[in-house]
Amino acid sequence: MTRWLADSCAWIKSIHIISMVAWMAGLLYLPRLYVYHAMAPVGSDRSATFKVMERRLLKGIMNPAMVATWFFGLVLAATPGVVDWRMGWIWAKLALVTGLTLFHGLLARWRNALAADHNTHSIRFFRAVNELPTLALIGIVLLVVVKPF
Ligand code: HEM
Repeated sequence: MTRWLADSCAWIKSIHIISMVAWMAGLLYLPRLYVYHAMAPVGSDRSATFKVMERRLLKGIMNPAMVATWFFGLVLAATPGVVDWRMGWIWAKLALVTGLTLFHGLLARWRNALAADHNTHSIRFFRAVNELPTLALIGIVLLVVVKPF
């Protein structure tokens, strides 16, 4: 089993990166949809369209992509020789990824509120939180590629 994992490492890493791109695309785009949705009058056709777009993006793409990113990332982490657990970068990466997962959960909560016309957040708030996944993405890629510590 461990030999098979080591031999398949490049394939598993590729699937990890593909699913990570799909997940990140949603994390970057969904809060932007919330900005436009929060501008649309409650009960309008525009608001109804955003509800459909947000549901499909979260449930159809982001949820499966997040599960796949975690699954293949953990398989990589369990492959002998891939991670030196005495290094700091992997722990910092796991902390940032946990933060992204919590952010995903908050996006799901805000989507429920928008879908029920109970949104309490401002356009400015959604604009500000929209920057968070970008910062996490920069940090994670630098950590996994440069491995600075
Ligand atoms: C969800 C939990 C995650 C786990 C458990 C995980 C774990 C891992 C592991 C163990 C590796 C192999 C590292 C190496 O070859 O040195 C890896 C590679 C990689 N991960 Fe993740 N990862 C996760 C999420 C993410 C996320 C969210 C991103 C991007 C935002 C990401 C980006 C990458 C990249 C770009 C690589 C390839 C690095 C390289 O080969 O140079 N990962 N991941």
